[in-house]
Amino acid sequence: MQPARPPHSLQGTRLLITGAAGGIGSAAARLCSALGAELILTDLQVTPELDRLASSLKGVMTVQACDVTQRSQVEALVHSQGEISALIDTAGICPYDDDWLSPDWNEKAFEKVMQVNLLGPINWARALLPGMIERQQGRMAFCGSVAGWMGGVRAGPHYAASKGGVHALVRWLAQRGTPHNVMVNGVAPGVIDTGMTSGHGYQAHTQPMKRLGQADEIAHVLSFLVSPGASFMAGCILDANGGILMR
Ligand SMILES: NC(=O)c1ccc[n+]([C@@H]2O[C@H](COP(=O)([O-])OP(=O)(O)OC[C@H]3O[C@@H](n4cnc5c(N)ncnc54)[C@H](O)[C@@H]3O)[C@@H](O)[C@H]2O)c1
Repeated sequence: MQPARPPHSLQGTRLLITGAAGGIGSAAARLCSALGAELILTDLQVTPELDRLASSLKGVMTVQACDVTQRSQVEALVHSQGEISALIDTAGICPYDDDWLSPDWNEKAFEKVMQVNLLGPINWARALLPGMIERQQGRMAFCGSVAGWMGGVRAGPHYAASKGGVHALVRWLAQRGTPHNVMVNGVAPGVIDTGMTSGHGYQAHTQPMKRLGQADEIAHVLSFLVSPGASFMAGCILDANGGILMR
């Protein structure tokens, strides 16, 4: 008899990871490669670092540039890759311009954040969901944020609103995907030590665990959400915040 496949194995999963050059996205790529996934990696640009990461990992099918705000680019990438069985979406921006009373703060900043953080996930879901429904199988995991629950401390109102929007979108998508075995979930990280937070005054001693989170600690949650182990989870936003918010 064949030994049962471990529930967190990603053997046989064709997984698209966005924001793959970023802190959490690159950690997810490393982990999911180790778990056996075939990987399609994408970010705004294919930097030399992303290229190096891709060549160092097993299972990378392709690495491609794609601007998540551009529906045509997202669709072109998805349609060029054949069947994609899972998505981990980590692309995001956090401009830290929370001085919204300043005359310089304008709708352009709001629109940019919404386009990347909220229209981006919509673009991916719009391109992927119909095929997943047709195959009656799929997984999507999105990055919300603790800011989407409690408002950002340092991040601006647009960022907090965009992440609250991601939490709602996960549920909207889960309602449509779940009857077809397309399971859509998300993670709400606390303060994670990546390029997004570095140099913005987050201090370890203010955190309940006296440290910031590590990108790997979010990658673990994301890889679980696209694994067979999460087969009965739908519309969940898992908190991984080091105890900064307990609900
Ligand atoms: N770091 C944290 O503390 C934290 C906390 C909560 C939520 N998050 C969320 O986790 C996700 C990953 O964050 P991170 O910390 O790894 O940040 P990061 O800045 O290291 O990575 C984000 C990646 O998104 C990419 N990106 C930005 N705009 C894009 C676009 N238009 N098209 C394609 N790619 C684009 C960037 O190039 C970058 O590689 C984000 O959605 C972020 O909002 C992070």
